[in-house]
Amino acid sequence: MEQDNAVTIGKLIISNECMPPYTEANIVADRFLKSAHLDAVALVEGREPIGLVTRHKLLFKLFKRYGFELYGKKPIIALTDTEPLIIHKDERLDVAIDKALERQAQDAYDDIIIVDDNDCYKGLVSVKQMIIQQSNSLANIIIQKEMISAKVNELKKAELMKSQFVANVTHDLRSPVNVITVVAELLNLDSERNDIEGLKRHLSLLMSGATNLRALINNILDLSKIEAGKTEVLNENFDIVTMLREVGETTRILIGNKSVDVEVIAHDGPIFIDSDPVKVKQILTNLTSNAAKFTEKGKIVLSLAAEGNNLSISVSDTGTGIKEIDLNKLFQPFSQLDYTKSKKNEGTGLGLTIAENIVKLLGGSIRISSKFGVGTTFTVQLPINQSDKTNAKTSAEAISLHDIKTIVLTEHEESYGKG
Ligand SMILES: Nc1ncnc2c1ncn2[C@@H]1O[C@H](COP(=O)(O)OP(=O)(O)O)[C@@H](O)[C@H]1O
Ligand SMILES: [Mg+2]
Repeated sequence: MEQDNAVTIGKLIISNECMPPYTEANIVADRFLKSAHLDAVALVEGREPIGLVTRHKLLFKLFKRYGFELYGKKPIIALTDTEPLIIHKDERLDVAIDKALERQAQDAYDDIIIVDDNDCYKGLVSVKQMIIQQSNSLANIIIQKEMISAKVNELKKAELMKSQFVANVTHDLRSPVNVITVVAELLNLDSERNDIEGLKRHLSLLMSGATNLRALINNILDLSKIEAGKTEVLNENFDIVTMLREVGETTRILIGNKSVDVEVIAHDGPIFIDSDPVKVKQILTNLTSNAAKFTEKGKIVLSLAAEGNNLSISVSDTGTGIKEIDLNKLFQPFSQLDYTKSKKNEGTGLGLTIAENIVKLLGGSIRISSKFGVGTTFTVQLPINQSDKTNAKTSAEAISLHDIKTIVLTEHEESYGKG
């Protein structure tokens, strides 16, 4: 910032026109008339500046009645300012502006003569130009200051989010660890008492605590890897229809014995896309596990559609739904809505954050629409083909709407083994 203020005046030279001081006034006037942009000319003898002629002052004098007759043949030095402002090329801009404006009102906007270390003439600088430069520098300083303060605010916010994150992680890690510790003590008691039933019961609690802990740790690791930009994205060709069916099967297992149907609406044959299969599956599983968790009755529908190079996969449910004011919270880490009094919403609140981050890594986007008490739909858009646009076009054409058929996997269908 300081540097901007220290712009030196020598950098603003706009002309180095000069003439000997004994040139006839007529000739100088002619020079001005021929060059509309020339505001002033320095009078230089040897290399030393000794005067300044400005356009408006000279022409004003000559165009007056009898001006040309009276002054035309005179040496220009006789008609002009012989004490022009002369400033060294390394003078600071703000100092030079002060000096210029301290002059008499009628001279304040006359050009300034710039000299080098040997007091030799270097050129002319316009006061107007100096002021413009000065205000640009000021504007730059203000912009820089604003940018810095915005950056500081951003950093503060990031810092706050990080510490919030750490606080949440610590809190969330504590619950499964507590469960595991307590249950381990109970197991100890059971074995002392030879209580086989107790052992069975507590062992299963221990396993579920350990599973939760593992899920949490995996999620946290995933997220921090993504945030650190260390996640590798593969680009493989795979059939998304088969994957969607597999995800449908797993969803049904997650539903357990709740009265919820799972439907997969997709193209009959395979649809090959180029993306990262593990990550796409992780996104879909995060969405369907939520749907399974928050739906008590009705159905969950996984469907596929294509437009251009975009594949759109949606997961709809007839579950609890989400209130409008909560919709934008969902993708923030650790946010879990608590609509029911009894907090049976197990999980980490990281699933959607991770899903959104992965979707972005894959060049796609994720949308949500929901009606509280009715149900929720998440829609993921992914590019069908990352590298080869022509190929993408043919796959998009291949999945015209007529080709899409409904495959209904009901709860009672024995199709767990189906691929
Ligand atoms: N399909 C859904 N229906 C209703 N609420 C949902 C649905 N999906 C997500 N949510 C809400 O968003 C929150 C965050 O989801 P998520 O990030 O997957 O975390 P988690 O599943 O670990 O709670 C959930 O706790 C829930 O409140
Ligand atoms: Mg989840």
